[in-house]
Amino acid sequence: MRKNIVAGNWKMNLDYEKGVSLFSEIVNMVKDEVVGNQEVIVCTPAIHLSSVGKLAGSVKNVAVGAQNIHQAESGAYTGEISATQVKSTGAAYVILGHSERRAYFGETDELLAQKVEAALKHGLSPIFCIGETKEERESGRFFDVIKSQLEKGVFHLSGEDFTNIVLAYEPVWAIGTGLTATPEQAQEVHAFIRDTIAGKYGEQIAADTTILYGGSANPGNAKELFSQPDIDGGLIGGASLKSRDFVDIVKVFN
Ligand code: G3P
Repeated sequence: MRKNIVAGNWKMNLDYEKGVSLFSEIVNMVKDEVVGNQEVIVCTPAIHLSSVGKLAGSVKNVAVGAQNIHQAESGAYTGEISATQVKSTGAAYVILGHSERRAYFGETDELLAQKVEAALKHGLSPIFCIGETKEERESGRFFDVIKSQLEKGVFHLSGEDFTNIVLAYEPVWAIGTGLTATPEQAQEVHAFIRDTIAGKYGEQIAADTTILYGGSANPGNAKELFSQPDIDGGLIGGASLKSRDFVDIVKVFN
C-alpha cells in the first residue's frame, strides 16, 4: 500500500549508547512535531535493533528496520543475521540491494532475490534499493540497469507478495556525495520504475507501490524532491544521523 515514508539508513555508525539516544530523540521529536500520516522508519546497525524495536512499539508511525539479512533460515553462517532474528527484535523492515552491499560485498541480483524471499517469508518488508552508477548514467544505459535490477531482484514475486515491497531509487553517484539528483532527474526515473511495475503487475499495483528517493537528500532539497508525483519519500543516509535534520525531512509531509 502506497505511503509517504521517510526512512533513515544509519549505515555503520553510532555505538550502542549513541544509537539508542539518537533514536529516543527522533521518537520524541516525531511525537511532538509530526502531524501527518507519514511513516518514519529508522534502519539501524544490528546492535541497536532489540532496544530501538521496543522503543518504536510506543509510537504509531515509527518503525525500525535492519540493513541486511542472510538468506538462510539459520545455521553455520558466522557473523550473519537471519530474517527471523531481525523480526524477533520488533523490526518490520530490512534494506536489501543497497549499492554499498552490491559493490563492497558482491551481492548479486540472484542473491538479493533469495534475501527478498527470506524477508517476506518471515514478515519483514524489504526496502529494495536500485540505482545506476555514474558511468551507467553517463552512458545513457540507466533505464536498462534499473529495469534489470527490478526484473532479477523482485519481479519473480507474485503480485500479492510484491505489494509488501518498498522500492528505493538511489543513484549511486548521488550517495554520500552531496550531488543530489535534480527533482526532474529523480521524477523521470521514478515514473519509469512505476511504468515498469505496471507492465509486470498492472496499473493498480504500480499505483500502490511506494517508491523512495535516496542520495544526498537533506532538509534543503527534500520538499522539492518529495513534491514530485512519483516520489513518495526518501531513504536518508547522512542527514538521518542528526535528529533535527532527519525530523525536518519527515515534516515535509506534515
Ligand atoms: O540508503 C541511503 C543512503 O544510501 C543515502 O545516503 O548520505 O547520500 O543520504 P546519503
